Amino acid sequence: MRNTISRLLTGAVLAAGLAGAGLIERAAAADVTMNLGWATPLESTYGDLAKKFEELAEQYSGGSIDVKLRCCAQIATEDDAFKALQLGTVDAYFISQNNVSPHWPMMDVFVLPYMFQNADHLVKVANGPVGDKIRDKLKADTGVHLLTFGGPSYRDFFNSKRPINSMEDMAGLKIRVPKNKVMLATFEAFGAEPVPLAWSETPTALQTGTIDGGDNGTSVIREMKFFEFAKHLVILDHFAGFAPVLASDRFMSRLSDEQREAVLKAATEAGAYHTELKLKEIEEIRTWLSTEGGMAMTRPDRAPFIAAAQKVQQSFAAELGQEFTDLVNAIQAAAE
Ligand code: PAF
Repeated sequence: MRNTISRLLTGAVLAAGLAGAGLIERAAAADVTMNLGWATPLESTYGDLAKKFEELAEQYSGGSIDVKLRCCAQIATEDDAFKALQLGTVDAYFISQNNVSPHWPMMDVFVLPYMFQNADHLVKVANGPVGDKIRDKLKADTGVHLLTFGGPSYRDFFNSKRPINSMEDMAGLKIRVPKNKVMLATFEAFGAEPVPLAWSETPTALQTGTIDGGDNGTSVIREMKFFEFAKHLVILDHFAGFAPVLASDRFMSRLSDEQREAVLKAATEAGAYHTELKLKEIEEIRTWLSTEGGMAMTRPDRAPFIAAAQKVQQSFAAELGQEFTDLVNAIQAAAE
């Protein structure tokens, strides 16, 4: 009995202390935790979007959603994350579109080389009917929710062997590509020797010279310090990309209507914020890489690369059918 009274008293004293510090109120309100993962460092382009999303989702949900940022592949690798989202073992994760399409090939419409004329075209498509269709169909086919496409970027090509001044210079280079069929076919069409490799194995493969190079979002080359191992940077704008944030249906179903609205509003606004940031930084980071980063940057004539890419576009449109081809046509029409 004495023990029980003493436990109750200790609890009451503790509660008074916590209430004084405003902690009980917050703890009671934060009734859903959202673990948001990604594969690159905290201080990265995904990190910028994640931090903004965290701030807004917590604010719009009145503190009833607690977003935990899980960088650096803590909760899954990017290659495993899509399945984990389908199973509901991961709440939310950034997965670049090329790592979504092995699970849902329609996403390759955003991977095809030279699909977008510039970053504005990409943003317009993501925010228009094609973006809506992708979002709805992805949900219907796989159960995974696309919260935002995030901001635009280009994958810049780098290698440790030689400057690339023409497509011929690509010959024989062992280039890491994500495990994506379109990317593999594209680098083959460019005359290189693509090696499909999971992201988790890529930094070591570059450091040890197992691969000669690869391509990544411009900011990823800086974040991952790839400029220390590969001195040749090549600006081709061959693949454009986004920073897609996806969520599991299991997580979304745990939310009340108000909380779901708060998550979607936060994702839309964080995506717009990230878009502004990315549009400004692409050229800035390229300049940084070619000055402070010590990379030698080339911008070869794109005509032969574009001609090779068009054949890749046509062959995937033929392989993936009418619905895919309609999306390709809609993207091209949005450029006009
Ligand atoms: O290269 C990849 O696999 C992806 O672009 C990366 C770097 C994991 C970011 O999503």
